[in-house]
Amino acid sequence: MFPVLLFIIFVRLCTGLKHRADSQALDFSDANFFDVGFDLDINEAIEPSGHIDSFLQRVDRDDKSKGLHEFTPIQNTIGQSQTQYYSFNVNTSSGLGEYYEFLIFLTGNICSQPSNVKENETSLAVYYSFNSSMFSNFEIGQMVLYENGYFQALADVPVAANSESDDSVLYIAVRAPQNTNTSAIWSYEIGVSQNDLVFQWDDRTWASLVDTDPHSALIVTGNLTTKEDFNASSANATHSRYSLFIYDYQYRDLFKQLNNSWCAVKNGPALMSTSQFQRSYTTRGGGLQQQFYVEGLNSSTKYVAYLVSNFGGSKFGGAVYQPFTFETMDEGPCSLLYDLDFCDQVAYSVPMPYGQSKEKLRDTYDNYAREVYTNFSKAMDQISCETTNDAIFSPVRTCDDCRNSYKNWLCSVMIPRCSTRDIKGYKLREVNNSRSDFINQEIAPSDPYFEILPCVNVCQAIVRDCPADFGFLCPTKNGSISLSYYWDDGGEFPTCNYVGDVIATVSAATRAILNWWMIMLMISALIITL
Ligand SMILES: *[C@@H]1O[C@H](CO)[C@@H](O)[C@H](O)[C@H]1NC(C)=O
Ligand SMILES: *[C@@H]1O[C@H](CO)[C@@H](O)[C@H](O)[C@H]1NC(C)=O
Ligand SMILES: *[C@@H]1O[C@H](CO)[C@@H](O)[C@H](O)[C@H]1NC(C)=O
Ligand SMILES: *[C@@H]1O[C@H](CO)[C@@H](O)[C@H](O)[C@H]1NC(C)=O
Ligand SMILES: *[C@@H]1O[C@H](CO)[C@@H](O)[C@H](O)[C@H]1NC(C)=O
Ligand SMILES: *[C@@H]1O[C@H](CO)[C@@H](O)[C@H](O)[C@H]1NC(C)=O
Ligand SMILES: *[C@@H]1O[C@H](CO)[C@@H](O)[C@H](O)[C@H]1NC(C)=O
Ligand SMILES: *[C@@H]1O[C@H](CO)[C@@H](O)[C@H](O)[C@H]1NC(C)=O
Ligand SMILES: *[C@@H]1O[C@H](CO)[C@@H](O)[C@H](O)[C@H]1NC(C)=O
Ligand SMILES: *[C@@H]1O[C@H](CO)[C@@H](O)[C@H](O)[C@H]1NC(C)=O
Ligand SMILES: *[C@@H]1O[C@H](CO)[C@@H](O)[C@H](O)[C@H]1NC(C)=O
Ligand SMILES: *[C@@H]1O[C@H](CO)[C@@H](O)[C@H](O)[C@H]1NC(C)=O
Repeated sequence: MFPVLLFIIFVRLCTGLKHRADSQALDFSDANFFDVGFDLDINEAIEPSGHIDSFLQRVDRDDKSKGLHEFTPIQNTIGQSQTQYYSFNVNTSSGLGEYYEFLIFLTGNICSQPSNVKENETSLAVYYSFNSSMFSNFEIGQMVLYENGYFQALADVPVAANSESDDSVLYIAVRAPQNTNTSAIWSYEIGVSQNDLVFQWDDRTWASLVDTDPHSALIVTGNLTTKEDFNASSANATHSRYSLFIYDYQYRDLFKQLNNSWCAVKNGPALMSTSQFQRSYTTRGGGLQQQFYVEGLNSSTKYVAYLVSNFGGSKFGGAVYQPFTFETMDEGPCSLLYDLDFCDQVAYSVPMPYGQSKEKLRDTYDNYAREVYTNFSKAMDQISCETTNDAIFSPVRTCDDCRNSYKNWLCSVMIPRCSTRDIKGYKLREVNNSRSDFINQEIAPSDPYFEILPCVNVCQAIVRDCPADFGFLCPTKNGSISLSYYWDDGGEFPTCNYVGDVIATVSAATRAILNWWMIMLMISALIITL
């Protein structure tokens, strides 16, 4: 049993703090150099206001002509061996600024395709040219193929067409390949803009699982960029541009050939989607994220989660991210809690007695942790740390850092993390044999469970952030660490429970937004040849 003491003294002061791994992020900040009109930020929390909104209001959605309009994708179906024609009038008084004034972004999604199309087979082809003769002779146009349900191209208006006299027109043709099924049809979307990519995809997972219990799951997005005055606690997440889709695990390969298509993922046979989830924003772990609380799942079941981002509502294009799978816990005494009032960094499954409501459980844990913390606060007040420079116990750490680290540590110890899985490092807790008397008597979990021990660096954070006078010490020997703490070894399931600001995990994805990168390369190439 873990002793609940105010100051827990361990064998020796530890030295090697676990540092945050450097994020391997590729820096795309140079990309900002290219002013791309709308400046759609696919990581933005809320729908962009201003430019795009006012633009979208002007768009006439009833226009059925084959003329494509700025940032207004058209959806269509096409039979095998058929060709369909479009045109786009270049607005010579808007665009990307002086040098790139007449760059045109073409993007498209395949929403569905015939079931007999193999991975290897050529998909829909898009031809484009500023010369109308292309409609009778595709060879004078440029050709791009849809790949994984997505295509993009950048057309630069020929210099001659820039002359004031004639407005230039971009001619576009979509051609379907042959198919052994003569009635085979594809459904696709195509969007043209002088300002931005109408469709995008991103090879980051971007959303991730926080934790599950037998019947619910908490999923968060990555850090969102946001406007300065964004208030996470009062913002209405109904207006978020993110949508989440939960698919049955049997569909994990459904979008194998269309995995870059926003349209396909949105229109697939999802089990549940955004409107069924509790949505809110959180700053847990440091950055602003949107969270989705998914209820009504089956226990011990695998699911696939897809996050998509919608630009300007659900009809005007969007981005799809890489999906991820997760598995709910077995039936047992674990219950997923989040958004605690005092222990605000806690978001995981905790032990619970049979039949207890989540609200009551949350309050019981939270109030107890707050009570214990109050005594620490009194001790903290005895130490003058923010008076003069000389009295500051550390040049970089403040009393607030210490309070914060202490609080996170306290919450991680007072509120054990519960699992029904037997994984190396997890500690089996029989009934009446939990971490503390408080858990045994006040919570009284009804069944045995596995406890995911706090990470040793939760302890190390207080040693780092608090005055030496407090005498906080953490275990350094592997033997003593494994009694009360553990390390995060990475892997499918967490090996220890981290409470506090996020430590970068092993799976630090390459933050490449591939299609953007390609566009930037293309633009660079244009500058060089200008
Ligand atoms: C062309 O772009 C300008 C500037 O964005 C806009 O004011 C104008 O209405 C556009 N013209 C057409 C025909 O859309
Ligand atoms: C793809 O095509 C190549 C040859 O063009 C063939 O060797 C390969 O087996 C095909 N793969 C699939 C999955 O059909
Ligand atoms: C369009 O293409 C045709 C055939 O290649 C060519 O003869 C004609 O000059 C082109 N027109 C323009 C405006 O480039
Ligand atoms: C041919 O395609 C049509 C339309 O997609 C579909 O309804 C039909 O089942 C397909 N036939 C075969 C033999 O796959
Ligand atoms: C954010 O909104 C909450 C609830 O409306 C309010 O209590 C809080 O003061 C706001 N914070 C800021 C920084 O405006
Ligand atoms: C959020 O916005 C939706 C739709 O506009 C509205 O129905 C809902 O009541 C709002 N929620 C809050 C908490 O303001
Ligand atoms: C999110 O933002 C916070 C605060 O800026 C930062 O500490 C954290 O490392 C970020 N997380 C990721 C995954 O980038
Ligand atoms: C849960 O399982 C039942 C019975 O197998 C099934 O009908 C239902 O769709 C499942 N629900 C979810 C969310 O997986
Ligand atoms: C789709 O699959 C391709 C190839 O398997 C992969 O490179 C790409 O990152 C995937 N896209 C998404 C959005 O997951
Ligand atoms: C707080 O300190 C008081 C007096 O030192 C003590 O009686 C009380 O039990 C402590 N509370 C907790 C929750 O440790
Ligand atoms: C747990 O302890 C309580 C009292 O401390 C006792 O009444 C109960 O029988 C114990 N339960 C088990 C399963 O040992
Ligand atoms: C202690 O455990 C850690 C994590 O498993 C391991 O990396 C390290 O080598 C171990 N140290 C000793 C002295 O066994």
